[in-house]
Amino acid sequence: SKRPYVIDEMISAKQIAARIESLAREIEFEFGSTDKLIVVGLLRGSFVFIADIVRELGLPVEVDFLEASSYGNDMESSREVRILKDIRGEIEGRDVLVVEDIVDTGFTLTHVLRLLKGRNPRKLRTIALLDKPSRREADVKADWIGFEIPDEFVVGYGIDYAQRNRNLPFIGKVRFVDEDEV
Ligand code: PRP
Ligand code: MN
Ligand code: MG
Repeated sequence: SKRPYVIDEMISAKQIAARIESLAREIEFEFGSTDKLIVVGLLRGSFVFIADIVRELGLPVEVDFLEASSYGNDMESSREVRILKDIRGEIEGRDVLVVEDIVDTGFTLTHVLRLLKGRNPRKLRTIALLDKPSRREADVKADWIGFEIPDEFVVGYGIDYAQRNRNLPFIGKVRFVDEDEV
């Protein structure tokens, strides 16, 4: 988009780090007996969050990635979820944690969970850094959520707007402005 915008900080890097520490303790408790937890990040948005989560976990982990795209470069969601890249590992009988950056309509997570459940993991859990429950269309909720947020357009910490701003170290809110305000 060529519409000018500014980014206002919504959740600081410090707040995120503190939340991830406490989430990691809960995940360790849930998967305490695992011989190997397979942590599956959904590309591309989860790449920052998954890096933090796995480094905070005191468990033996394997890291894998799956890419399911629903948005393309647009702001609007579509119900169509495409698997662009599948995980590499076998998950039958394994403990699996799916990592998402944000759950919005819920179509992406629903589709991915259906796919992975069909492969008969021993335990399948999900974590999302952000949850926007007011936008939900599919009946799904992550087992762990970093922050519940209102229906704001957010970027940073892996989340993009037209593929930009994923590298911001905090969660910011996009605010569209007039040309002369930028
Ligand atoms: C975004 C976001 C989630 C999904 C959430 O991904 O990272 O994966 O949309 O939306 P939903 O709950 O309405 O399905 P996107 O498809 O934009 O791909 P990206 O992760 O590469 O940005
Ligand atoms: Mn995504
Ligand atoms: Mg996106």
